[in-house]
Amino acid sequence: MYTSRIAGLGHYVPDNVVTNEDLSKMMDTNDEWIIERTGIKERRWIDPKTGDSPSTMGTKAARIAIKNAGLTPDDIDFIIFATLSPDYYFPGPGVMVQEQLGIKEIGALDVRNQCSGFVYSLSIADQFIKTGMYQNILVIGSENHSGGLEKSTRGRGVTVIFGDGAGAAVIQRSEDSKGILSTHLHSEGKHAEELALIGPNTGRWVPEIISEDNPEDSSYYPHMNGNFVFKHAVTRFMEVIGEALATNNYKPEDINLLVPHQANLRISQFVQAKMGLSDDQVFNNIMRYGNTTAASIPIAMSEAWQEGKIKEGDLVCLAAFGSGFTWASALIRW
Ligand code: COA
Repeated sequence: MYTSRIAGLGHYVPDNVVTNEDLSKMMDTNDEWIIERTGIKERRWIDPKTGDSPSTMGTKAARIAIKNAGLTPDDIDFIIFATLSPDYYFPGPGVMVQEQLGIKEIGALDVRNQCSGFVYSLSIADQFIKTGMYQNILVIGSENHSGGLEKSTRGRGVTVIFGDGAGAAVIQRSEDSKGILSTHLHSEGKHAEELALIGPNTGRWVPEIISEDNPEDSSYYPHMNGNFVFKHAVTRFMEVIGEALATNNYKPEDINLLVPHQANLRISQFVQAKMGLSDDQVFNNIMRYGNTTAASIPIAMSEAWQEGKIKEGDLVCLAAFGSGFTWASALIRW
């Protein structure tokens, strides 16, 4: 069996910076509340005039990742695209990336799994590579949240948290022992509606929603039971990081860099304190981008790598928790 390594990383975020001050002009909120509860100072939201979308942002991030891997788009064997905000209801954006990169007719897979989408996708790529089916897999996480958020006081508990952006990684076949050591995937569907966008769905399509014309209906905006999500997140983050470490006989002090899904700075800080990790062992950039769901880990990993915080030989742990609930981790020897 082969191992898979991360051969290249890239990210792209829209230029349009939306500060907490900007949000306070759209809804009853303020900088102090947002920073105290979430750590977020600003996020990027797509300016519709630019034409940016999950697929175009994903393609921009992918071009950088492919270049950093020393490859060209034609070297890619397979595409995995994670998002909860696809360009279209169907088809998913994986095929659009295939077209935008001008790649031959390779397979393209779309993955849901929301905030855990990137780690789930990495796990899928790892299996395809281990078995020898593919050599270079492009894994993308990309989100356009801003187009679907409720930009009024009713939506403030959700809207202030989320941002847009994309990250990409090239996962490559390797014959030495370095690379992805293990991945761990979990779900608990009984909490599906605690963090969800319920409508439109196959039981209630758009024409029905339009014909009802009900201003009280918030089912087509994301809903989040914030306190409930917070409590589950901190527990599951610690469990799944512990699982990755135990599987490979490592302890928290062996981690060179933990790249947690950027859900909320308070969640990351809680997990860091409970696990006894130092500031140097944990990477956070939610202050600048908000929560970008499937894009958050690849954006963070790409920035950490650019800043020299991930080096050859390092032990890197990725961990995610989100809607589903789903949670996941990956342990990587770089
Ligand atoms: N600005 C100002 N006030 C706000 C607000 C905002 N953006 N959003 C909510 N509030 C108000 C609420 O209406 C409530 O007011 P009330 O006490 O008068 O009813 C008060 O602030 C407290 O609301 P609550 O929801 O209890 O706050 P909280 O301390 O739980 O913080 C979250 C809310 C969302 C920041 C927090 O629950 C959280 O971070 N949860 C996890 C979210 C997450 O990580 N999601 C992604 C998972 S992948």
